[in-house]
Amino acid sequence: MQNHNNTLQIQWQQYENPQALPATEQSLLQAAKDAAEKAYAPYSNFYVGAAVLLASGEILSGSNFENAAYPMCLCAERSALANAISTFTEGIVRTMAITVRNPKQVIQTPAAPCGACRQVMVEVEYRQQSDMQVILQGERGPVYVLPSAKVLLPFHFDGSFL
Ligand code: THU
Repeated sequence: MQNHNNTLQIQWQQYENPQALPATEQSLLQAAKDAAEKAYAPYSNFYVGAAVLLASGEILSGSNFENAAYPMCLCAERSALANAISTFTEGIVRTMAITVRNPKQVIQTPAAPCGACRQVMVEVEYRQQSDMQVILQGERGPVYVLPSAKVLLPFHFDGSFL
């Protein structure tokens, strides 16, 4: 077998602002923004909101939920997914919108989910055998639309190895 140099590329869409998004995605992002305002984040004062759109049309959301024992903090993305999957056990997650707000500075760059959340998002794709589109926006500024969670976690580990 010969040695190879491999390259990985990802593609995503960039919109100048949420108004440029299709209506459904706009509402989903707004649901994520509303969720961010419900965060319990007294330690970091960093507000994260996530909202998921199910194939059935339902929108469910979650926000970060902190703890004085810092490692216990729950991220918004995992809260939203747990909310959705435990409410609609057969639910297929088509799209997830994630947004952040930091009272100390206006975040103008889309913030991407942490590594642990990426792993959980990939699990959802593996479970439902279909991609979950990911929409990212800071408090303001451009919106990124990624085709799946997988593209955020190359060389991911999933149930196919077990
Ligand atoms: N956080 C999230 O909710 N999602 C992420 O992907 C990154 C971080 C939360 C955890 C903690 O409550 C705060 O943001 C600061 O790290």
